[in-house]
Amino acid sequence: MCGIMAYLGNQKAAPIILEGLKRLEYRGYDSAGMVMIPDDSLVLFKKKGKVSQLEAAMKDHQPKATIGMGHTRWATHGVPDDINAHPHITHSGRLAIIHNGIVENYSELKTALLKEGYTFKSETDTEVFGNLVDYYMHRDETSLEIAMSKALKKIHGAYAFVMMDRQDPDRLIVAKRQSPIVIGIGDEEFFVASDATPIIQHTNKVIYLEDNEIAVIDRSQGLIIKNYDNRVLSKEVHQLDLKLEELEKGGYEHFMLKEIYNQPQSISDCMRGRVNSDESWIVLGGLKSSLDKILDCRRIVMIGCGTSWHSALIGEYLFEDLARISTEVEYASEFRYRNPVIDSNDVAIVISQSGETIDTLAAAELAKSRGAFVYGVVNVVGSSIARMTDSGSYIHAGPEIGVASTKAFTGQVTLLTLMALMLGRKKGNISQKTYKKLISELEKIPSYVSEVLELTEQIKYIASEIKDCPNALYLGRGYNFPVALEGALKLKEISYIHAEGYPAAEMKHGPIALIDENMPVIVIATNGSDYDKVVNNIQEVKSRKAKIIAIVNRGDHVVKGLADHVIEVPETLDPLTPLVSVIPLQLLSYYVAVMRNCNVDQPRNLAKSVTVE
Ligand code: AGP
Repeated sequence: MCGIMAYLGNQKAAPIILEGLKRLEYRGYDSAGMVMIPDDSLVLFKKKGKVSQLEAAMKDHQPKATIGMGHTRWATHGVPDDINAHPHITHSGRLAIIHNGIVENYSELKTALLKEGYTFKSETDTEVFGNLVDYYMHRDETSLEIAMSKALKKIHGAYAFVMMDRQDPDRLIVAKRQSPIVIGIGDEEFFVASDATPIIQHTNKVIYLEDNEIAVIDRSQGLIIKNYDNRVLSKEVHQLDLKLEELEKGGYEHFMLKEIYNQPQSISDCMRGRVNSDESWIVLGGLKSSLDKILDCRRIVMIGCGTSWHSALIGEYLFEDLARISTEVEYASEFRYRNPVIDSNDVAIVISQSGETIDTLAAAELAKSRGAFVYGVVNVVGSSIARMTDSGSYIHAGPEIGVASTKAFTGQVTLLTLMALMLGRKKGNISQKTYKKLISELEKIPSYVSEVLELTEQIKYIASEIKDCPNALYLGRGYNFPVALEGALKLKEISYIHAEGYPAAEMKHGPIALIDENMPVIVIATNGSDYDKVVNNIQEVKSRKAKIIAIVNRGDHVVKGLADHVIEVPETLDPLTPLVSVIPLQLLSYYVAVMRNCNVDQPRNLAKSVTVE
């Protein structure tokens, strides 16, 4: 999950690439670099650390080159340092390469190249591929494009490569398999990037490179795209509907806070044009065209990673509760390798904010190869997962830049709720009266979320109470069990406090041994069928002297008498509770991370889109 940015055109490449890398930094930020061809030499800058450090290193010498490429790294092979940072220059000094992905068989290739007298500066798999291209180019006295095509046939793994030849400063060669590449088409200039965010300020015309395709970008001949059999392909030019201001912080201190506060809007956007409580209808275009497929299926398998897996868990509860369709949930990384039983009787619903998570993409491809109907619930339009599914629905949450997913989670849950309601109604499991009640309550959720967002000061105070605790336990039941998992994930991934989420009743089967006065326990105790049982669990925790923080509905007096802190949220119908109960947990983790001086938008070791295994 690195960020790639390349430019060929009539402007100075350096500032364009630097700006692009900053917009891609959420994909990886342990080191950054750039290489340009101002004449017939390769001018290279690369630094451990963030793009700003690369920018500082280049301050007084930005060559006038109009061709170049840059990279911001999330380390896979080789520690983050100046040497392992991309770009890499090949053994002959002639070629430059940047890469997002993993070359699985790099070790054996490196051994063979060492025997050919090749030398290596870094520990990276990227340099190995670059030298393999270099080897073919010199052995066969051929062009970079041909040499690259030969080398691509020798490697296994996921990649987005961009290469340049210092003897040919008018050409970029791009190759793609599994890792994303978007090519922006400007006025006699081209932009190559890992996604559209650094392109939109230059052009809204893009082409998405597909797997096993090579793009040759030439100053005079323009853009030519071929498959690995060297056949020229004609590709659709897409019009981006991304807006530049969506990529700015808009006055917030962090993207994450902006995205938390954007949720009333993003939840509304997810429902826009899809819901009408007055006339009691829900229409999802992607679902409508595949309704019979889903209604007649044997079961649904919901697949995702991280927060998207939590959304899938809520989806399971929704689909079984409201649509009475047998539903299972799978971690994509497990599903893809465990030889699962899945076939044409099944439907796979793959959930992904980025639409680029390699495990989720591979799981979707496996399900499809076994005959299952694959439905995507995705945020990024035109992403790899969105493009490979049989059908799907976008959540329309807008760009989510903060590594910790917030508005994408509530967008995913909103969409899964719409799907469950639509399917439940079609199956006759939901009466018209209940349908209308749930729809009209769903339309109120954005205003409920706005009300919770006003509890900032109280949540800040609670954050100050737990910010130095080494551990935390999150408990919830029913629809709130996956919310407890999500709250724990938020806390651990941005504040580095170890946190676990558990079904409240499970606590007695082990975790209760952890509880003492140093363990904050965050319990979601909103009104619902299991409320009394959750109250019992709170009493069990209290008797072990834990500090109890409870999310309750307004007017709750029972839990208020037990907990150290209660955060009161508007009451809603049980199936819709996650959309409200998660908000205070997002804010709590955000303020704890800020108070711990953590890098909220770019937490250590993480990246926004996990495009490598
Ligand atoms: C969530 O806060 C994390 N950043 C991470 O778990 C994320 O949800 C996961 O990597 C899946 O990403 P996706 O939704 O883009 O597939």
